[in-house]
Amino acid sequence: MRKFDLSSNLEYEISLVDNIQEELQSFIDINYSYRKKVFITDEIVDFLYPEFTFLPKKDSYRCVIKPGEQSKSIETYYQIIRFLTSINVDRHDLIIAFGGGVVGDLVGFVASTYMRGIDYIQVPTTLLSMVDSSIGSKTAINTEDGKNLIGTFYNPKAVFIYLKFLDTLSDKEFRNGLAEVIKSAIIRDKELSDLLMSKNVYEKDILEIVIRKSISIKKKIVGCDLRESGERQLLNFGHTIGHAIEKLSDFSVSHGYAVAIGMAMISKAYYKLGAISKETHLRIINILKKYQLPVSCEYNEEQIYQEVLKDKKNNGDKINLVYPKEIGCAVIDCVSRKDLKNIISVACR
Ligand SMILES: NC(=O)c1ccc[n+]([C@@H]2O[C@H](COP(=O)([O-])OP(=O)(O)OC[C@H]3O[C@@H](n4cnc5c(N)ncnc54)[C@H](O)[C@@H]3O)[C@@H](O)[C@H]2O)c1
Repeated sequence: MRKFDLSSNLEYEISLVDNIQEELQSFIDINYSYRKKVFITDEIVDFLYPEFTFLPKKDSYRCVIKPGEQSKSIETYYQIIRFLTSINVDRHDLIIAFGGGVVGDLVGFVASTYMRGIDYIQVPTTLLSMVDSSIGSKTAINTEDGKNLIGTFYNPKAVFIYLKFLDTLSDKEFRNGLAEVIKSAIIRDKELSDLLMSKNVYEKDILEIVIRKSISIKKKIVGCDLRESGERQLLNFGHTIGHAIEKLSDFSVSHGYAVAIGMAMISKAYYKLGAISKETHLRIINILKKYQLPVSCEYNEEQIYQEVLKDKKNNGDKINLVYPKEIGCAVIDCVSRKDLKNIISVACR
């Protein structure tokens, strides 16, 4: 049974569902022309939920990759492509990305390029992938030179969110996803930020409200600006420095934790430079601390600056940084390299 249809202004369905088996089965029944169904997942999700990857049994295949950010690579991409060709998958077939953001980003990229595009659906299993990466059509793999350097914008046919998958998620991974929830609240929704401060998101009912609100924020923003030419850039709050930290740590600092540090550092710098109030800055730090997310890192200003210069979102000599003027109202600041160096330096002090 479908609890909420969250799709509206996107071209695909995002649903919070009560029964994932039924939902997948009925999607496949309605779209009966799909012949083969290929579940792509990672070893951990496969171990925890082996029954899901054989649904429905007829013409169902399973491809299991290693867990972790290192799998968002050209090698794993090619491994999946070889698997698809080995079982003669063609454009009449369906791929199901079953896992966290790593599986979602990688499988989305496979789907967008295999035979010039094949249908796929997203079944996110981490908090981060439910509220963020499965929505917005961005697909990606990393290279030695940077995160998400190769990728496409490619819509899934549907996104099915089943909250029970979160029951097996570690607290560390849960908080990793909360960082993106906090980001959404800070850039667009003061009410959500108040809720995060005053209530306990570990309570099921509160969590469901928080997830629905986060999805709505992301959906609204990407619905108006799929290709990130304007408003969508707000979602990068904390990400410019965050991506640099992920890369500097060789991905031992996970995405959400790195974004948390990025948000804390940017807010500190803009507060010290007089662009935001002490109250706003402290609210951001307190909310991150409440959920035991990090607010600083071990890297120095030069290391961070050099890594940020490699960011694919840079526009020649200019870099767009996002900061919240106040909670719920973020803006884009287009800065020169010199200003960027100064901002990072203030943030590191
Ligand atoms: N496309 C986008 O718009 C977008 C947005 C934000 C982040 N991302 C990307 O998402 C990735 C991070 O995603 P993530 O945080 O989900 O990481 P992840 O996919 O690596 O999952 C984290 C860990 O949780 C495990 N796991 C997954 N589901 C589980 C479950 N239900 N129970 C127990 N363990 C489970 C995984 O095996 C993995 O070990 C990064 O690569 C980031 O760049 C993409």
